[in-house]
Amino acid sequence: MNYYFITGTSTGIGRALVEELVAYPRNRVIGWSRSNFFTHEQFEHRFLDLSKQEALFGLEFDTFTDAKRIVLINNAGCLGEIAYIGQQQLQNLLDVHQVNFTSAAALMNKFIKTYQHYAIEKTIINISSGAASSPYDGWANYCSAKAALNMFTEVLHLEQQQVDNPCGVYAIAPGVVDTYMQESIREISSDKFSKKEKFVELKANGALYAAKDVAKKLVQQIENPATIPSVISRISL
Ligand SMILES: NC(=O)c1ccc[n+]([C@@H]2O[C@H](COP(=O)([O-])OP(=O)(O)OC[C@H]3O[C@@H](n4cnc5c(N)ncnc54)[C@H](OP(=O)(O)O)[C@@H]3O)[C@@H](O)[C@H]2O)c1
Repeated sequence: MNYYFITGTSTGIGRALVEELVAYPRNRVIGWSRSNFFTHEQFEHRFLDLSKQEALFGLEFDTFTDAKRIVLINNAGCLGEIAYIGQQQLQNLLDVHQVNFTSAAALMNKFIKTYQHYAIEKTIINISSGAASSPYDGWANYCSAKAALNMFTEVLHLEQQQVDNPCGVYAIAPGVVDTYMQESIREISSDKFSKKEKFVELKANGALYAAKDVAKKLVQQIENPATIPSVISRISL
């Protein structure tokens, strides 16, 4: 059996990943998010608010005796409040880093601790963003959290090359995808984000990727890790 742990499975890319994976009887999916709108016998939803540090202290990964592949996909993400530095609410600054980076780092730490000794295929995929390497005004928290996620990925990848039963570790930016997150970008007022029009035009020109196509590509890559071009990469459809 293949076991997938995925954060942020209620909407967007995470939801599309669940639907893609449960189409195959060999897969079981555990999804963490604050809400859920999907039921399937191969899918289990577990409530988790990643902005709450305390929720992570008690979190354990299941142990398995029949696993052939175990995968963690840190997909949950949020832009948070868009505001120039100096005008940000402290709680928002802390929450955006907690959801996009710190919680993912904590889950990777626990995943490696739990499964390092399993002599099976193990993979961690961190859903990153072009914003990890391109600064956008008003997005300091999101950009810096995704940059931290990329560097954590690189360090873990390096470490895993030096241990027994290594785990594959990758950060993958999904491209510009037609999800709730993109909707919220198009609603930002232009005086808080100078590149807003670019995202409005991408949508108007039908240039956004569909979440289901991105999910399909991600699953293909996870099933054939040799096709992932590098530790840090971007989906291109
Ligand atoms: N769409 C794009 O163009 C794009 C581009 C680059 C990168 N990404 C990345 O792709 C990933 C998925 O985003 P999406 O586009 O699919 O957006 P989305 O539709 O807004 O989905 C975000 C997911 O994250 C979950 N989430 C947010 N805050 C959470 C919290 N506090 N605790 C638990 N779960 C939380 C949400 O679930 P609940 O609200 O139910 O908790 C939801 O399932 C994110 O990491 C995002 O940064 C997206």
